[in-house]
Amino acid sequence: MVSYGRITTTASYVPPKIVTNTDLTKIMDTSDEWIYSRTGIKERHMAVNENTSDLCLHVAKSLLKKANKPSEELDFIIVATMTPDFHTPSVACIVQGSLGAANAFAFDISVACTGFVYALSLGNKLIQTGANCGLVIGGEVLTKMLDWEDRSTAVLFGDAAAGVLLEASEEPMILNESLCSDGLLGQALTSGFVEADPLSNKPKAIHPLQMEGRAIFDFATRTVVRSVRNLMQDEQTPVDYFLLHQANVRILDIFSRKLNISREKFLQNMQKYGNTSAATIPLLLDEAVTDGTIVLGSQQRIMMTGFGGGLTWGNLLLQV
Ligand code: ACO
Repeated sequence: MVSYGRITTTASYVPPKIVTNTDLTKIMDTSDEWIYSRTGIKERHMAVNENTSDLCLHVAKSLLKKANKPSEELDFIIVATMTPDFHTPSVACIVQGSLGAANAFAFDISVACTGFVYALSLGNKLIQTGANCGLVIGGEVLTKMLDWEDRSTAVLFGDAAAGVLLEASEEPMILNESLCSDGLLGQALTSGFVEADPLSNKPKAIHPLQMEGRAIFDFATRTVVRSVRNLMQDEQTPVDYFLLHQANVRILDIFSRKLNISREKFLQNMQKYGNTSAATIPLLLDEAVTDGTIVLGSQQRIMMTGFGGGLTWGNLLLQV
């Protein structure tokens, strides 16, 4: 009998240091008024002595503790991140080793802000092909990759990790999905390229995150809106909540208007965290589960939509 992946537990972790918009005005030419009115962001968390694997390990331990599940029962661990500690070992392997999850295979995926959506889809497929349970986590320390002299990107991002325990169930949770990429647009958002020139003595440099904000904004509010509309066109049952990537409050407003769906259905937390890339959607989910907005096992319909570097975008229609 085929089983399906179902989210049974959620968890999140943010590093304790908070950086407000006002804090940023001390190191760059910006203002709380500009940042808040143009993006909806008030503050973000910043990892100081922690790396992505540390944030993800907090989440993994919390998931297992909440579910009262020994780590040996895990079959897989997937971490979505664009800020791994190393190219190898993967963040997922570091987490697996620290947990003592001896029976789990572990790997990272790099899909920028769409990472958690891809990873959850993949986790579901692993369960459909025989795995019993696994962790799907999104984690980032984007503040380590920012150019602090580029005010147009530095104010937007924050650090966090969040994830889910996915367990086999006879009832499908993912009802429909669309995963998309357009590598021809990839230069609109780049980060982490090592400028390797083996024949020169120049030190290698890490390329900080650079983004053509306006181009991504237009892509999100045209291409990504269209993809959500297409996925919903045959749906008779209304979606209860939209967990849309938290890049900019104006993007949420435009989605609501273009899809003609009440703005209250678009959950929002970017004011507290900024854009945390692959961590954003599971962080939003964990907060909604914790405050009772989303109730796992209640059959609510949730649309998860991620978009970002690659360029990539993806939608999962869930019945949780
Ligand atoms: N403080 C003050 N002024 C600023 C700041 C700042 N922090 N940043 C830019 N400005 C100025 C600019 O210099 C510009 O000034 P000018 O008109 O004199 O040249 C003016 O503000 C307007 O700048 P724009 O870039 O046109 O501002 P815009 O309204 O487009 O907002 C933003 C920029 C917030 C980046 C927006 O385009 C956006 O949210 N884009 C989407 C980003 C996104 O969705 N990313 C998701 C993927 S991320 C991932 O995958 C990792």
